Amino acid sequence: MVLIAPSILSADFGRLDEEIKLAEEAGVDMIHIDVMDGHFVPNITIGPLVVEAARKATNLPLDVHLMITNPEKYISDFVKAGAQYLTVHVEACVHLHRTVWQIKEQGIKAGVSLNPATSLTTVEEILQDIDLLLIMSVNPGFGGQNFIPFCIDKIKKAKSMILNKFSNALVEVDGGVKLENAREITEAGADILVMGSAFFGEKNYKEFMEKLKKTLSI
Ligand code: DX5
Ligand code: ZN
Repeated sequence: MVLIAPSILSADFGRLDEEIKLAEEAGVDMIHIDVMDGHFVPNITIGPLVVEAARKATNLPLDVHLMITNPEKYISDFVKAGAQYLTVHVEACVHLHRTVWQIKEQGIKAGVSLNPATSLTTVEEILQDIDLLLIMSVNPGFGGQNFIPFCIDKIKKAKSMILNKFSNALVEVDGGVKLENAREITEAGADILVMGSAFFGEKNYKEFMEKLKKTLSI
């Protein structure tokens, strides 16, 4: 069973409420929200206020991906805004274990993300503590980039590391996920597919979800 999480980064922000509602009606499983600070990644996007607006638009879980430095400073702001999953980057956390537990102590799910070139060994010790492992399949910062092929192998390795550690963490894949490669990524071990441009670039989200579910046999 694979979950679909459209990234609102590629949505029309002038109609954000409607865009999220249309995604929900189309049958998506969660809403992915990309928070960028212009330091960790070369782009500035969304803050807690937009997460709060998204919270009002839907009851679906909000999957908030923090691409920011010092994420520990903003955890309670995003929890208050309505995040249900909060994911931090291993490259941005000096004390990753402390940050993960800071998130979990607030009663929500904790995720850890890796840039494409960051080795899985950096999260090996924390796999049993986390709810989600986010494998970036593009260098974070922008929507609409191409999936980096070596990430297929990384997803397979991530899945087997999780199973070996008896962790319940879900494997989420983010960046360049499209109708054409969704099946291969899922077969490699992804439990959650983030889709930005491939989803919001479509005219009819319902039709797209039908095609996607057919491709994934779900
Ligand atoms: C990239 C973001 C992604 C992005 C994905 O930095 O983390 O979530 O929105 O967009 P697509 O699916 O267009 O690659
Ligand atoms: Zn993301």
